[in-house]
Amino acid sequence: MYESELVIAKNAAERAGKILNRLFGQVSQITKKGDIDLVTEADVQAENSIFEIIREHFPRDNLLSEESGSRGRTSNRTWIIDPLDGTTNFVHGFPFFAVSIALEVDGEVVMGVVHNPFMGELFRAVRGVGAFLNNQALRVSRTRQLQEALLGTGFPYDIREHPREPMDLFEKMLVTAQGIRRPGSAAIDMCYVAAGKLDGFWEQDLKPWDTAAGSVIVEEAGGLVTTFQGKTFSPYRKSVVAANPYIHGAMIEILNGKKP
Ligand code: IPD
Ligand code: CA
Ligand code: CA
Repeated sequence: MYESELVIAKNAAERAGKILNRLFGQVSQITKKGDIDLVTEADVQAENSIFEIIREHFPRDNLLSEESGSRGRTSNRTWIIDPLDGTTNFVHGFPFFAVSIALEVDGEVVMGVVHNPFMGELFRAVRGVGAFLNNQALRVSRTRQLQEALLGTGFPYDIREHPREPMDLFEKMLVTAQGIRRPGSAAIDMCYVAAGKLDGFWEQDLKPWDTAAGSVIVEEAGGLVTTFQGKTFSPYRKSVVAANPYIHGAMIEILNGKKP
């Protein structure tokens, strides 16, 4: 199922990954999309190269990507693409960034690839077939208590205008969990949940290209992915909680006001 799509997604992610590795530490064109939201020539070149490969093989499919928005609306198949997840890290020479490519069919994400080219890691999943890191099958962690969990999170780009809610939630999680990390790439953060390196992850105001690939990878590794309210996740929803099934409920309770 979706074998040829997976091959193309992997090729596209690896080719874009080579572009990112080549430009890492050398970016010269940094533009601000918002106060703290950046775009570089690496984002644009990686995205163009992904488009080229997908268009060549699946010319009728829709594309939805961070730097170009939505292209084509007539197909029931949409490729959801973040050519560089972790742009702030990339600009600062902090080596934690990824290419994220997902395929959505009839409203369901059926395949996802997340490639961290600096580490040589390629995470992938096809719905119903399992999740893998390179050739190794992935499974979420078995940590049973939130108090013993290592969690990941991130902050929205409008944090300067609206700091209160994300900071309140961060504080509640911080005093409950064993530790919290803010690595700076939501796509990799979710794959780390799938790989059991993180026990859970939450973030609000993410975009479809940040979470689409990661969501199927977490689910295929046995994790749960929902909104903050515990509702069915879709990449178009505003909030995401991805975690192993033991601590997911406790995270939802905290995100909905339960006192730590
Ligand atoms: C960002 C990263 C970051 C998350 C932000 C995202 P970008 O994506 O995933 O970890 O906290 O909310 O927008 O802008 O680097 O593609
Ligand atoms: Ca992103
Ligand atoms: Ca991006």
